Amino acid sequence: MPAPWWSRAVFYQVYPRSFRDSDGDGVGDLDGVTSRLDYLQQLGVDAIWLNPVMVSPMVDHGYDVADARDVDALFGGLGALDRLIEAAHGRGIKITMDLVPNHTSSHHPWFQAALRAGPGSDERDRYIFRDGTGPDGGRPPNNWLSIFGGPAWTRVVEPDGEPGQWYLHLFDAEQPDLNWDNPEVFEDLEKTLRFWLDRGVDGFRIDVAHGMAKPPGLPDMRLAKAEMVLANMDDDPRFNNDGVHEIHRQIRRVFDDYAHAVAIGEVWVYDNEQFSRYVRPDELHLGFNFRLLRTRFDAGGIREAIENSMAAADLVDATATWTLSNHDVDRTPTRYGGGHLGLSRALAMTLVMLALPGAVFVYNGEELGLPNVDLPDEALRDPIWERSGRTLRGRDACRVPMPWEGDAPPFGFSANPQTWLPIPPEWAALTAEKQRDDPDSTLSFYRRAIDMRRSRPQFGGRSVQWLASPDDCLAFRRDGGLKCVLNASRVAIPLPDGELLLASAPLVDGDLPPDAAAWLV
Ligand code: NOJ
Repeated sequence: MPAPWWSRAVFYQVYPRSFRDSDGDGVGDLDGVTSRLDYLQQLGVDAIWLNPVMVSPMVDHGYDVADARDVDALFGGLGALDRLIEAAHGRGIKITMDLVPNHTSSHHPWFQAALRAGPGSDERDRYIFRDGTGPDGGRPPNNWLSIFGGPAWTRVVEPDGEPGQWYLHLFDAEQPDLNWDNPEVFEDLEKTLRFWLDRGVDGFRIDVAHGMAKPPGLPDMRLAKAEMVLANMDDDPRFNNDGVHEIHRQIRRVFDDYAHAVAIGEVWVYDNEQFSRYVRPDELHLGFNFRLLRTRFDAGGIREAIENSMAAADLVDATATWTLSNHDVDRTPTRYGGGHLGLSRALAMTLVMLALPGAVFVYNGEELGLPNVDLPDEALRDPIWERSGRTLRGRDACRVPMPWEGDAPPFGFSANPQTWLPIPPEWAALTAEKQRDDPDSTLSFYRRAIDMRRSRPQFGGRSVQWLASPDDCLAFRRDGGLKCVLNASRVAIPLPDGELLLASAPLVDGDLPPDAAAWLV
């Protein structure tokens, strides 16, 4: 059987609010994506992953879904999605969407009905409502914290006007968790999956794919280990409960009716064996492995992340996935030290990532070398800012709209100067227009690297062999013959034998400088 299209695809993550605004409201939309398909085709991507575009009050920018079977008017409605699918398919680019099965918006008709119906009702059973503890039930049912800060429980006012039960929300209070023990929840998700897959969508990235099942009795979590970040610990009762695997099997049975479609889970689980369970043959096709993204620019750590990610996939003969950034984490140039150093390291890591076997995910703007943006307090829009009592700034810094062209904000992103997050004037040097014809730009580098990865046989095979390399460096070889060398040391190093295909920085007297990587064949 030929390998499926996604097994070595380059996915390009579009954060729709920030990609391109076609209607001048200052927020990106789907016709904006369609208008830039030429750009994506030239970049060489195989597929787009769209962050959520379903109907939503947008408290968490679409991860709070009020109607899972319609596109929000903000993004152009269903018609705009149909136009995008048709135009993308016409260019051989697949479209994958984001699916949010762990929770809904509090505006969802189910949650509104649950509030009206009162304790013990069938409507409440679609969510996780519990009586409180302590005098008058005034304390939450357990000690779980929301990932966005504060308790994971909110108390409701009952239809009689009295304070009453509490409901669980692992994220914002506007994102109540669904009760996956209730069969109606899967029945509804199945309708949603078929709705989009029948419309021509090529798959889904599944949000919080390690989160849907909750442990019986909802035992307390160990607060000493509580982290107010998306990455949970492996012994955290809020996530990675065994029941989640039966849910994935149910989902997979639906996917199996659509042979072309791919299910990619967001799986924040680190133990290799535990992680591998999510990508068994009857569960997800792919699972995001975030080890590489969490690793500092350190050769030992990077090698360990690669080895572990591959080992986790190999345990069940699954395909590995690689990503360095997304809409939840600091942008790579910032994470690796900022400025010229940060960008050099980010480009070096790009060569490492694109040299690896499996599926790769690039986050919009990564190909322009965009860094995080220091936004003023009043510009912040991420719910984390308010929920953390304004102690955590959240993720807006990595979500600033794309600079397309021109010399001043909004750089062709929108006709409206009031963009939903402000774009810094310094990005004049980073626009797609400025980088397009400059052979030394970050964009040209990405294009060349993606093109080589796609077209050269040396990138073939499923494994990597580690080669000897100087201290604080790493080198590996693909089955097809590609060699990748990373220099994370302080001194320039000689390259192994072979023809140089691409380097992330100019060689110095034939040597690879620090904070750079190279491909050879
Ligand atoms: C993970 C998503 O990537 C993040 O952006 C979102 O806030 C949470 N899931 C909640 O849906």
